[in-house]
Amino acid sequence: MAPPPPRLLGWAVVLLVWCADALGPCVDGLLGFYKGAENAAVCCNATCGVCLSDEICGRRRGGKHNCCPGVVRRVSRTCSATGGRAPCPIRSKCKDWRPALSWRAPYPTWKPLPAPRAFRVLVFVPVGRKKAVIVNDTCKKALALNLSVWLAHYDGSQDWYARTYSWYPRVSRAFNYTDFKANYVRNEVLPRVEAFSHVWVLDDDVRWPAMDAVAAFLGVVRDERPLIAQPTIRGSWQKLVSPEQDRFAPNCTVWATDFVEVMAPIIRAPVLADVYSRLLSTTSHSDWGLDMVWCAYAKRRFGTTSTTTCLVVDAPFRKADRVTARKGYFKFYQHSYSTQASLWDKRCLKHNLRPLWTTFHGRCLRSTPTRPR
Ligand SMILES: *[C@@H]1O[C@H](CO)[C@@H](O)[C@H](O)[C@H]1NC(C)=O
Ligand SMILES: *[C@@H]1O[C@H](CO)[C@@H](O)[C@H](O)[C@H]1NC(C)=O
Ligand SMILES: *[C@@H]1O[C@H](CO)[C@@H](O)[C@H](O)[C@H]1NC(C)=O
Ligand SMILES: *[C@@H]1O[C@H](CO)[C@@H](O)[C@H](O)[C@H]1NC(C)=O
Ligand SMILES: *[C@@H]1O[C@H](CO)[C@@H](O)[C@H](O)[C@H]1NC(C)=O
Repeated sequence: MAPPPPRLLGWAVVLLVWCADALGPCVDGLLGFYKGAENAAVCCNATCGVCLSDEICGRRRGGKHNCCPGVVRRVSRTCSATGGRAPCPIRSKCKDWRPALSWRAPYPTWKPLPAPRAFRVLVFVPVGRKKAVIVNDTCKKALALNLSVWLAHYDGSQDWYARTYSWYPRVSRAFNYTDFKANYVRNEVLPRVEAFSHVWVLDDDVRWPAMDAVAAFLGVVRDERPLIAQPTIRGSWQKLVSPEQDRFAPNCTVWATDFVEVMAPIIRAPVLADVYSRLLSTTSHSDWGLDMVWCAYAKRRFGTTSTTTCLVVDAPFRKADRVTARKGYFKFYQHSYSTQASLWDKRCLKHNLRPLWTTFHGRCLRSTPTRPR
């Protein structure tokens, strides 16, 4: 059985599940990829439940002609990027997907960003009631550290939170907003980003460690001045550097990488504004794939070196839900059509920005023999 693509699993837990729209290229079917290859997209018949090239695809409802991407890709009728009659292969080359930046154009280089005048962090979290226990902890700590906190209630829970938590009046901005995380950032954060040196865009299921560990992480971000950074997150699917590199530097605490996940990145405010307005398509619904390119892009764009662009800092943050691989994958695949739109976004982003795609290269900048495990 083909293993589910691990990076997809990492993203399968971002905050998109509630948004059950039918966006994406398979209006009447299910988006899938032959052997996980982004350039071999197909629409399976919706009766299949999932569109996955595994050994049991022929036994799903609809049979192999409807449900096996390897068979569907040979169907002569094709579907367009905006829909078609499943089962059909998608041959669109993402022409309708327009990034603000074409990779064919030379990357413009900016003069290096001056160091921020003050370290002012905005913590921005799309939150729901389900993760309230974690959000309570996160917000209390963030406020105690004098960070600004903004909350976007994706399930309309604003009033409930306001009634339940005594810290709520100290949240600087809060709103009900049923949309994708990428759109919160675009529509709510970017217009107001100038007041801050950094924006920390967090998923609500990331559990913070003790305050001193959070403060230590922020201290590294302040002192090392990366453009984009993240703490390591236990329970995340992502392997941020290759196992070989990890083996050679087992006590590493700060990595310079070309990959930072979209789960909990802390980003210099001008960089956030730049990547969201220039790398994402105006027609994209999610930020899937952004984390695969933003380090390489920011490095060229802002003229930084690989040790001052993207950092991963060892810190005991935790992901609340440990999704078991296959179950999580199927569940998400079946119940959210947004997955389709997001997969499409990722595919087209890769198509347009392929030279920037990550190689998962990491280099240890700092290590300590007492690294906590
Ligand atoms: C899905 O398959 C069923 C049975 O083969 C067929 O009746 C139906 O039209 C198919 N749906 C689409 C969207 O092609
Ligand atoms: C929020 O968390 C604190 C511990 O940090 C706890 O004492 C408090 O009861 C929680 N609030 C609610 C409403 O659960
Ligand atoms: C937060 O700000 C208050 C008031 O300005 C100050 O007393 C406190 O020490 C600050 N806390 C931290 C962790 O910086
Ligand atoms: C937030 O949304 C909920 C549910 O839709 C609604 O009941 C509530 O009035 C809204 N609150 C605000 C402040 O908009
Ligand atoms: C990592 O730290 C341990 C002690 O915790 C030490 O024995 C080991 O030699 C260190 N490894 C490297 C490669 O530095």
